[in-house]
Amino acid sequence: MIIGIGVDLVDIARFEEALRRTPALGARLFAESERGGRPESLAASFAAKEAVAKALGGPPGLSWTDVEVIRDAAGCPRLEIRDTVADAASQRGIRRWHVSLSHDAGMSIAMVVAEG
Ligand SMILES: CC(C)(COP(=O)(O)OP(=O)(O)OC[C@H]1O[C@@H](n2cnc3c(N)ncnc32)[C@H](O)[C@@H]1OP(=O)(O)O)[C@@H](O)C(=O)NCCC(=O)NCCS
Repeated sequence: MIIGIGVDLVDIARFEEALRRTPALGARLFAESERGGRPESLAASFAAKEAVAKALGGPPGLSWTDVEVIRDAAGCPRLEIRDTVADAASQRGIRRWHVSLSHDAGMSIAMVVAEG
């Protein structure tokens, strides 16, 4: 059963600029494995985190690094969640996450589905 969905759209250049302006932001938003990718992929990973927050209804206290976007050898993304996000998900009966990412025309988008 679908318990929640979330979508988020990120302006790649604006996001890159924010990361450049505030060097500590990268570490606050991304797990080590997520850093250093192409700007459009990094922006898509950020969008995925926002989309997860939306699928959960935007509760307070979520930590950005408690959602990790992992890409397999073929480039297919999946989400690994832990701690604050895993707790919020388990309170809502969510057991599986699905994610899809895309980028074009200077924007990155992510959509997630939370399944119970
Ligand atoms: C809920 C949240 C994601 C909305 O972010 P935003 O940048 O204002 O949202 P966007 O501009 O992308 O989208 C706006 C839409 O989000 C939806 N939205 C607003 N609050 C929402 C909520 N609590 N839950 C789900 N969707 C929500 C609305 O449909 C809104 O559209 P509307 O203004 O036309 O009604 C944001 O306030 C938030 O909580 N961010 C997450 C912070 C966080 O927990 N980070 C750690 C994540 S792991």
